[in-house]
Amino acid sequence: MGKFQVLDHPLIQHKLTILRNKKTGTKAFREIANEIANLMAYEVTRDMPLEDITIETPVTKTTAKKLAGKKVAIVPILRAGIGMVDGILQLIPAAKVGHIGMYRDEETLVPHEYFVKLPADIDQRQVFVVDPMLATGGSAIMAIDALKKRGATNIKFVCLVSAPEGIKALREAHPDIDVYTAALDEGLNEDGYIVPGLGDAGDRLFGTR
Ligand code: PRP
Ligand code: URA
Repeated sequence: MGKFQVLDHPLIQHKLTILRNKKTGTKAFREIANEIANLMAYEVTRDMPLEDITIETPVTKTTAKKLAGKKVAIVPILRAGIGMVDGILQLIPAAKVGHIGMYRDEETLVPHEYFVKLPADIDQRQVFVVDPMLATGGSAIMAIDALKKRGATNIKFVCLVSAPEGIKALREAHPDIDVYTAALDEGLNEDGYIVPGLGDAGDRLFGTR
């Protein structure tokens, strides 16, 4: 079974409170979503493999650690996932970025895939799927289905706010992947929104609606 972790560092909790506040405008929302993603990236990359290399310091020859060259792909679920990409790229600037377009039918809450564009060597990459919201889990499950269908095997899912229903569904559908969230909220309301949540992440990031 993959890992499940709530990354509740005080800085993350503080910044998440600003995102949750309905008075926070688009500019601040965008900046802070990326700042939280940046802090989460530090934790979700903790088990990246290292190798030994020999270098010379100004003082002596020594053995030191270097990332073992596992290539990374960041895959945001459109639209809202885009709001986490830059924050992660700040720590992993060489990562490639794939995109999976998914929208939830507002009545049925069933996700629909409308776009998939991934790095050609996705099967060889450590993939971080990012989406601020995990509600029913439908979008994440379908995005990971799409990735696995194209050969990805090493996948981690990273979100900001999740509902217990979504976490359960995602872990049942894809027990092999690690799941990281900045907050595990109370549940879903009758419209499928996370409670207390932060509203519609895509609309708040892009200033739509
Ligand atoms: C939101 C969110 C997730 C999805 C979560 O996207 O960004 O992708 O809903 O809900 P689920 O877990 O019930 O599937 P939305 O469909 O609103 O599209 P958007 O990002 O384009 O706004
Ligand atoms: N998608 C969102 O953007 N917000 C929610 O609360 C649920 C799904």
